[in-house]
Amino acid sequence: MVSKILSSSYIGIESYILEVEADIMPGLPSFNIVGLADAAISESKERVRAAIKNSGYELPARRMVINLSPAGIRKEGASFDLPIAIGLLSSLGVVESKNLKKYLVLGELSLNGDIRKIDGAINSVICAKENNIEGIILPRENYEEANMIKGVEVIPVEDLTQVVEFLNGNIVIDPPKEKEFIESDYIVDFREVKGQIQAKRCIEISAAGGHNFYMIGTPGAGKSMLAKRLPTILPPMNDDEIIESTKIYSSAGLLTRSMPIISKRPFRSPHHSSSMVALVGGGRTPKAGEISLAHNGVLFLDEVTEFPRMVLETLRQPLEDKKISITRAEYRVEMPADMILIMASNPCPCGNLFENKCTCSISQIQRYQHKISGPLLDRIDLYLEIKKLSKEELGGFETGESSEEIRKRVNKARKIQWKRFGSSRINGNMTPKEMKTYCELDDNTKKILIDSIDTFGLSGRSYDKVLKVSRTIADLEGVENIQLAHIMEALSYRKK
Ligand SMILES: Nc1ncnc2c1ncn2[C@@H]1O[C@H](COP(=O)(O)OP(=O)(O)OP(=O)(O)O)[C@@H](O)[C@H]1O
Ligand SMILES: [Mg+2]
Ligand SMILES: [Zn+2]
Repeated sequence: MVSKILSSSYIGIESYILEVEADIMPGLPSFNIVGLADAAISESKERVRAAIKNSGYELPARRMVINLSPAGIRKEGASFDLPIAIGLLSSLGVVESKNLKKYLVLGELSLNGDIRKIDGAINSVICAKENNIEGIILPRENYEEANMIKGVEVIPVEDLTQVVEFLNGNIVIDPPKEKEFIESDYIVDFREVKGQIQAKRCIEISAAGGHNFYMIGTPGAGKSMLAKRLPTILPPMNDDEIIESTKIYSSAGLLTRSMPIISKRPFRSPHHSSSMVALVGGGRTPKAGEISLAHNGVLFLDEVTEFPRMVLETLRQPLEDKKISITRAEYRVEMPADMILIMASNPCPCGNLFENKCTCSISQIQRYQHKISGPLLDRIDLYLEIKKLSKEELGGFETGESSEEIRKRVNKARKIQWKRFGSSRINGNMTPKEMKTYCELDDNTKKILIDSIDTFGLSGRSYDKVLKVSRTIADLEGVENIQLAHIMEALSYRKK
């Protein structure tokens, strides 16, 4: 008898429904899986065989065929073990078929029949919901992420026998007790950063409006230190953002027992030796890159001049569109990539250009600074040159404001923006139409801005960026209309 089990797989971060057909026929004993299966799925045969046997069921010495459909899409991973096993057991009549249509079934089997965690669980639950499937049977370890989606019954399971008994209506499976997620506090705080008042101001503006920030300066001035503290002043994630980010991490296989969902804004700091695929995503089967893992959070490119130029250039499109589209012969996927970009570097090879003791030649300096292309710089909202601390600042113990104090102001400014846009959008993402409405200037201010176009070599994009940053500065101040002082401050963060 042919039995059909509903399951799912994903491409990028989007899941699709898949049918696992199992048939047991008379003939020479064999076990085949067809439908574009990769190596992991072939290995699945061994796990399924052992798990079924070790759970106390018996497979007959006959011809067994599994078909994964649709057949045209490459499938990867071990999450088909469980639907394959259930399919076979259903063909044998061990599992009754009456409940099978109600559930998506997913899970990796270990040889003794235990069910192991899978990647992309939340993505599958969302897919079940979109396809009006009542419930989903998946590994106990995926319960927390799966349970974030309302409207789909989540059945968390631990071993094969439990699934068989459940489908046969012999047992009910209670959801595990809700775990309390205690948000761990950040171990760093802005209070630890001495001086660098302007840099802190830029970080605050960046956090408030979602603006990209490039710090260029002397070694040991505190650039890396400042960037690492940006997450401590960002507002908490809302439910939609938590689901979105959890989806990305789940399909990338990055959720762990101690981090079963993503409820804290991500901070990604890829090394400059990272490949293009690691940074933007892609690969044989498409995986999220650092820019998508940083979605809803921060992407920090430290020592940015050390990144290969080609790799940096791939950021141009996603920085503009807030998402990345990857097209290969086998697939086309789109993944979100809406983050705050922070970049840091030295101004020259010796690092001391701003301290009047630079030992580099002009051509060395130029070559060094040209590693960041014009188009990439054009996508930066805030640019700041940072010098080392003065003796007084360095020797003193005087500490600045705490992250909590700054976060309060950031939150206030964000609330103004959310109210203005009627959603969780922020100034950094304003559309041209919204800019027309919310970035109006009085005649005098407008004239001064227009006069500065040549001084700062403003492009169409950077002109808009000045307006957006000014909007955020006004919001931090709680002022309705952008004023000259806001424009002047925003201009002071442009590279001359
Ligand atoms: N403003 C500061 N306040 C307090 N400590 C600082 C400050 N700047 C630097 N330090 C100290 O120096 C260390 C190095 O700072 P950091 O790594 O942030 O420098 P950097 O600007 O990133 O340098 P590089 O260009 O070499 O990467 C910090 O870990 C901290 O101990
Ligand atoms: Mg550094
Ligand atoms: Zn130098």
